[in-house]
Amino acid sequence: MNIRPRRNRKSAAIRNMVEETQLGVQHLIYPIFLKDGKNIKEEIASLPNNYRWSLDQLIPEIETCMNLGIYTYDLFPAVDESLKDTIASYSYADDNFYLKAIRKLKETFPEIAIMSDVAMDPYSSDGHDGLVVDGRIVNDETLPILAKMSVAQAQAGVDIIGPSDMMDGRVGYIREALDLAGFTDTSIMSYTAKYASAFYGPFRDALNSAPKAGDKKSYQMNPANQREALLEAQLDFEEGADMLMVKPALCYLDIIHLLKQQFPIPITAYNVSGECAMVHAAAQNGWLNYDLAVYEMLLSIRRAGADGILTYFAKDFAEFNKK
Ligand code: PBG
Repeated sequence: MNIRPRRNRKSAAIRNMVEETQLGVQHLIYPIFLKDGKNIKEEIASLPNNYRWSLDQLIPEIETCMNLGIYTYDLFPAVDESLKDTIASYSYADDNFYLKAIRKLKETFPEIAIMSDVAMDPYSSDGHDGLVVDGRIVNDETLPILAKMSVAQAQAGVDIIGPSDMMDGRVGYIREALDLAGFTDTSIMSYTAKYASAFYGPFRDALNSAPKAGDKKSYQMNPANQREALLEAQLDFEEGADMLMVKPALCYLDIIHLLKQQFPIPITAYNVSGECAMVHAAAQNGWLNYDLAVYEMLLSIRRAGADGILTYFAKDFAEFNKK
């Protein structure tokens, strides 16, 4: 035999030297749920090791995470039902606890990057990402609401705006509103190829944000489609997105790979709540090794071409990766 591939695997030193894909904590974005109040740290039943935090509890947690090397956070608000309405007006209200918390976090930790989510669902009494009129999710009427929400978040100090709503034209509309308000340095990471997925369940539990009627298939993409992701990405790129996200990650590694080859800007992937819950459930049953499964999943997302990964595993990974 002239060629023996096993020679390149014969010791850890050689395996590490020829390793093709790097995965480090610098690639991870940590999604965190915020709740109004004090002294709150509620574990999310379907998302073990993840909590709804009040700001006072979150500040020391962020410090711990920074010491582990996590510098980018995606924050989501768990909004009280009484504050939800059909037009998501709380999303840009002056006394919005989430916007106040972001301001405080940026003051306390100027070196972190904060990403936000732009969509109506956490604030909407209908539980949809867009405005509902006569049972339909209307596109163009949703855009001004998303723009107001984005400008309010930029004012609070958000570094990266994350439109997750999948309305047509929203990236360009938000970019223009941010620029007009003077926020030319605020980035947009668009949820570009966001599929109507079964894997968002635990997230909707965390925020109690599931649609009250219908599903999200008229705006989120059909999991059967690959070429359509190219169209979405082309539009977001031309409208001024700084980074393009694929969501979920694991069932969509082909989409990550495709966008990485076609677009000259960073590609990110959202390792969503259901993907995280599956690993926990299996590990709790003793059916697989949690640390190894997490590492392999995150590595596969990087190998497919993701530059950054949003993942609920960020802190656990940072901890076991140090050892
Ligand atoms: C809101 C939003 C969702 C997620 C991120 N932003 C839920 C949805 O679209 O229904 C899901 C994230 C996850 O499951 O981890 N538009």
